[in-house]
Amino acid sequence: MAIATKLSLTLLFLSYSTTIIFAAANDTGFVGKVDPKSLNLNKKRTLSHFRFYWHDILSGTNYTAATIVPALPKYNTTSSFGMVNIIDNPLTVGPNLTSKTVGRAEGFYALTSQSQATLLMVMNFALSEGKYNGSTITIVGRNVAYNEFKEMPVVGGSGVFKFATGYADARTQFFDPETGDATTEYNVYVFHY
Ligand SMILES: *[C@@H]1O[C@H](CO)[C@@H](O)[C@H](O)[C@H]1NC(C)=O
Ligand SMILES: *[C@@H]1O[C@H](CO)[C@@H](O)[C@H](O)[C@H]1NC(C)=O
Ligand SMILES: *[C@@H]1O[C@H](CO)[C@@H](O)[C@H](O)[C@H]1NC(C)=O
Ligand SMILES: *[C@@H]1O[C@H](CO)[C@@H](O)[C@H](O)[C@H]1NC(C)=O
Ligand SMILES: *[C@@H]1O[C@H](CO)[C@@H](O)[C@H](O)[C@H]1NC(C)=O
Repeated sequence: MAIATKLSLTLLFLSYSTTIIFAAANDTGFVGKVDPKSLNLNKKRTLSHFRFYWHDILSGTNYTAATIVPALPKYNTTSSFGMVNIIDNPLTVGPNLTSKTVGRAEGFYALTSQSQATLLMVMNFALSEGKYNGSTITIVGRNVAYNEFKEMPVVGGSGVFKFATGYADARTQFFDPETGDATTEYNVYVFHY
């Protein structure tokens, strides 16, 4: 009996203090509760699979990627540690650059290992096809260049991809060690509303 009373008093106090906290937050206009329905987020999540080819073109006059920070001299030829490339790379539906463009990969990658070619990828896939036009998928992850499969997390997105989660599997399709030009196949698995 005494324990039950104590418990209900505790619960009463907890709900009271919760109310106070929400009210205080609401009073400032800083944060409030939202019904998911009002943001169209009450629908079932869809798991979509996108496949496209990412073209990293460093050579020629119409390059899409460029070094904005050179490698640290000590690591210049081994791991390119410290190098940063900025990218605005076309994403095409087939491996050939002349195939249909379905979006762009905007962002950068940084060489972040002292011992091997490993990249920190930070990029937005800005898609331009159909209902995905204008929506973005954001990738932040580790890419070990010489692994056959490189898995990187989808950390979010915008438009159709609000609240998105998932991952991307990348596989090198073509690489020219002379120029650094590369074509990578991306398979992106993403949960979205
Ligand atoms: C605060 O509460 C009022 C009344 O319930 C509501 O209309 C308003 O949208 C809330 N503010 C925020 C920021 O959630
Ligand atoms: C580079 O792009 C311009 C403009 O789109 C085009 O006219 C030119 O032929 C391209 N050059 C090469 C080498 O592809
Ligand atoms: C790094 O390597 C490139 C190409 O191999 C060379 O052109 C450049 O001078 C080197 N930079 C340094 C700082 O050694
Ligand atoms: C890409 O397509 C163009 C034009 O359709 C063609 O000439 C070229 O051989 C193709 N390249 C490859 C690697 O298949
Ligand atoms: C995507 O949207 C932009 C801006 O609304 C529009 O200009 C463009 O034609 C659209 N692209 C496709 C492929 O529908």
